[in-house]
Order: sequence, then C-alpha cells, then structure tokens
Amino acid sequence: KARIGVGIIGFGTVGTGVAKILLENAALIRRRVGVPVDLVRIADLDVTRDRGITLPAGLLTTDAKHVIHDPSVDVVVELIGGYEAAKRVILDAIAAGKHVVTANKALLALHGEELFDAAARKGVELAFEASVGGGIPVIRALTEGLAGNTIQSIYGIINGTSNYILSRMTQEGQSFEAVLKDAQQAGYAEADPTFDVAGIDSAHKLAILVSLAYGTPVNFKEIYTEGITHITATDIAYAKEFGFTIKLLGIAKLVDGEVEARVHPTMLPSGSPIAEVGGVYNAIQLVGDAVGDVVLYGRGAGSLPTGSAVVSDVIAIGRNILAGAVGRVPAASFQQDQRRPLRMKPMEEISSLYYLR
Ligand code: HSE
Repeated sequence: KARIGVGIIGFGTVGTGVAKILLENAALIRRRVGVPVDLVRIADLDVTRDRGITLPAGLLTTDAKHVIHDPSVDVVVELIGGYEAAKRVILDAIAAGKHVVTANKALLALHGEELFDAAARKGVELAFEASVGGGIPVIRALTEGLAGNTIQSIYGIINGTSNYILSRMTQEGQSFEAVLKDAQQAGYAEADPTFDVAGIDSAHKLAILVSLAYGTPVNFKEIYTEGITHITATDIAYAKEFGFTIKLLGIAKLVDGEVEARVHPTMLPSGSPIAEVGGVYNAIQLVGDAVGDVVLYGRGAGSLPTGSAVVSDVIAIGRNILAGAVGRVPAASFQQDQRRPLRMKPMEEISSLYYLR
C-alpha cells in the first residue's frame, strides 16, 4: 500500500486539531508509518466557517457518505459526537470496510459492545484513544503498557471542564457560572455541558476504563454518579481550611474480586499529587499488581491535545494496515470468563466516601 487515506467526519474543535496535526506533522507521520498518511476528505454541515486552517482544495463536503464511500479513505475519523448520527456513521463506515477512530466516549459507554462486535466481524479496527483523558495515552497504557498487570485501582480526574471550574473557583474564588462559560468558549465542554458538571462524562470515561481494565462491559448508568453542580465557593474554602482540595474523581477498584466504580467530588489532602492538578488537566493514577503506581498527567480536553490522541490511533492503524495485521488483536477484550461482577456500593456508604478511599 502506497499511502493511507484519512477522512474526518465532524469538523469542530477536535476535528480541526486532527486536521492541523495531520497537515503540519505530515513528514514525521510519514516516516513513522512508512508511507504518507493523507487527509483526503472532511465532512461537516458547516463548510464555510473559518477554522484558522488552510486546507488543500476539494477536501470539504457536507455529506458524510462522501467520506465513508470514498475509495481512497482507509480510516474514518468520527468526531461528530452524540449518539444516533455518530453510531450510524461508525456502523456505515465499518460496513464499508473502513477502520474507524472515534473520540466519542458517550457512544462507546452506551453502545461499545455492539460497535466492537461489528468491527470484529468485519475485521476492521475501532480505535478510541481520544475517548478518555484527552491527550493522555491512557487507553494504550491499559491495553499495552500495563497489559501484564491486574489493575487494582484507578483514580482519576477525567473531566477537564469540571476540573477547570473547580480549580478556578478554588484559586480565584470565581462563580461556577462564570467559569463554565470560559470552559465552553475554550472548547473544553461537551455540547451539553451538563454532561461535564453532572459527572456523566466522567462516568462514560470510567465505564470505558473499567471495560479495559477488568473485561467487564459496564453500563455507565449503573455507576454511582454525582457531579460538582452543588459545590460552592464556601465548600471549597472550608475544605481548604481543613487541608483538603475538592476534585471530581472517577474511581474504580477491585474489592474481593469485584469491581467497585463511582464518580463523585472527593476531598483530597492538599499537596497530594492529584489534588494539585489544575486547569483543564486530567490525571489518572493506575495501580497494577506488578508495576505499582503509575500516574498519567496531561491536558484532558481541547483541540490539539485530543487531536494528538486521535492521530496516534490513525498512525497505529496505518502501521497495522502495512503489517497486514489489522483487527487481529481486539482493542478491548470482553471474554466472558474474564468478566468481573460490578459491585454497587449502597448510597449510605458512598456519602462517607467523600474522603479519598
Ligand atoms: N468535555 C470533556 C472534558 C472533553 O471536559 O473533559 C474531553 O473528553
């Protein structure tokens, strides 16, 4: 194969970042894959808005089908977000024999099994590094770097928007609403920012991490989820006086062979590594039985950081295509015998868990 063709569907914040990286780093990506990785098509309903990027002529289309059925496209990058339309795009791309890269954690948390099954049956890849932790390679850490470990626990700040809000409320004493507006303007927040501040986005991401770490497909709705909407500047100030910082954490751990998973604001001793993570940064602490603690830290949202993760998947797929190895190693393994039951904590136990445990 002389080149790898990439088509993007959804030219918003992340899509723009992906296009920039593919164009600006084309030479090094070419070296790392072995052949050129060419951006050949981009679909979006809005093809006129100035995104601050100069594209080669003829790339843009308003019709996703033009991307999916373009014979020069090997990898379809789905970045439209949401459920129904995105699911259709991914299933159509798979049916057309395309490899798919997505950042859509909401969709994977809800329909991941169905989508991975479809990809496996067709022998194509469905990659999702950008779905958790923005630019942090946490999916690869779990599926490759730490693949020899039993994962004992996962503690993570996995929503950039709510961390940005909490950090600025803590440091500048600003109101929740004012900071949320800034996060939206910076392109960090979801289309519906309730997902960010109500903990739902964190629950989506935790469901994905739990699936990878424990082979247990999780319905994110079963994860106890509490967001930061009720946290006030006064709460933050009191916590600080007692030496604590409030962070929204996704927590999963093995307890007596079962997986406990929850999302809620947590009091962390000020000065501990995760407590000091500010702004749009995410931090994920993974504990493996062999490796011990591993902490991953980086920008959890935004155009180029999330684009970086998407492009890493495109590169990995490009290499697999050239090696004739696509689809042989499923990204997520859901073997029945590896599944661990999900343990749900009773509500009254959770309220005592506001301190990190
Ligand atoms: N809205 C998400 C966040 C984007 O703030 O973390 C990255 O998944």
